[in-house]
Amino acid sequence: MKRIISLALAFAMIIGLVGCGAPKELPDYKTALTDQSLDYSLDELESMSWDRSLLISDYEVPALYKYFEGLCDIGVAFGANQIYPMFNEKGEGIDITAETDDLNTNITKGILKHYNMYVLGNELKSDHCNPAPDTYDFDDGDKLVAAGKAAGAKLRGHTIVWHTQVPQWWFKADPNDQSTLDQCKANGTLATREQLTERLTTYINALMEHFKDDIKIWDVCNEVLNATGIRQVSDDNSYWAEIIGDVDGNGYSDDYVEIAFNAARAAGGEDQVLMINDFNLEWQDTKVQAMYDMVERMLRKGVRIDGVGFQSHISLDCNVEKYRSCIEKIASLSEVYDECFPEYKGNFRVEITELDMNMFIGANSDGSYYKWSEEEFNQQGDKYYELISMFLDFVDEGVIDAIVFWGTDDENSWLNTTPKLRRNAAMLVDRDLTIKPAFWGVAKAAIDHRK
Ligand code: GLA
Repeated sequence: MKRIISLALAFAMIIGLVGCGAPKELPDYKTALTDQSLDYSLDELESMSWDRSLLISDYEVPALYKYFEGLCDIGVAFGANQIYPMFNEKGEGIDITAETDDLNTNITKGILKHYNMYVLGNELKSDHCNPAPDTYDFDDGDKLVAAGKAAGAKLRGHTIVWHTQVPQWWFKADPNDQSTLDQCKANGTLATREQLTERLTTYINALMEHFKDDIKIWDVCNEVLNATGIRQVSDDNSYWAEIIGDVDGNGYSDDYVEIAFNAARAAGGEDQVLMINDFNLEWQDTKVQAMYDMVERMLRKGVRIDGVGFQSHISLDCNVEKYRSCIEKIASLSEVYDECFPEYKGNFRVEITELDMNMFIGANSDGSYYKWSEEEFNQQGDKYYELISMFLDFVDEGVIDAIVFWGTDDENSWLNTTPKLRRNAAMLVDRDLTIKPAFWGVAKAAIDHRK
């Protein structure tokens, strides 16, 4: 008997030694972080939603995306540092399922648990990825890919062409020139059309080469429109139209948009979903019309744009019916798309790409450290409910396939500092990671919609 025990011990030690140092298997985060006996019923939701002490990372809390399974994807944007806790110093994935009080780790858990679409807020922007000629930094993008794999989430690549967070050297004849773009313009030292086109194309080729197998949806262009047409230098210093201009002589200086889409298609392949993304599309009729006209014109020219992203940085007083009519207008581009690209019929879509809800309205718009009441949080929950219910009507019609929240929680939201320093409360999760009525409002919209 003794001998059997010592043999067994020796065997166990050998297994232990072999196991030591070998990379550990990662858990399936979606199942490991959430109680699998939950039923996602209205009763269950109502019994939980009165409890304001539940944390976003709690095992017994239902996963938000589950309410939407079979309807649409539910996404979140985050900073790369918000998923760092799931990697060791060597950049290898580690198991973070154990209970912890660490706020950062619990944010990472919340991301892994509740969402099935991920976006990096900043680290896939072109200034980050291509800071200097022949210099590429895709490390944080690689972490996004690893997180997506570990949690079975789709990925959106955000964003290639923008007028800010874009490398300034792209726009200068000499990439080492330290002058501002305005000075370059005055000195006649801006990049030429050919230079800018070549730099953009080279970058897109490198980006797609690196990510095309893992990131299948891209905001190729972001905010290229002003209220009525293509953005100009006078609109936040966008030099795209100024430098590339009207290449085909059709009277519009938006050819850089076409160049970007064509390059992304050529390098990324036919299976990429290539989108154009913008703000104010939920209310500004002139901009909606400008977007419609530009996309229609490009589709008819053979540029395959697969959809329009509505950023959706809205406020508590958002007019949901107005918003509905704007989506209807843009969704009607699908007829043009189907006509121009019959082999991809039905592929045109709208995505809600950067949803958050500014809480400052009227009198409180200057309150810098306002303390939000539960009643105000309930109002926000009702507004999120109303909004998501409207989106789900479009999901049924095959128009919307994804809703992405722009931030993990109230503390991690750009609205705390923009347009000025004031503590906002835009998201589904409170600063201490407790779940707000907004979370339950979103979930309830999906339950009620299925009835
Ligand atoms: C815009 C951009 C995003 C992000 C937000 C602010 O909406 O599209 O990439 O920069 O502003 O966080």
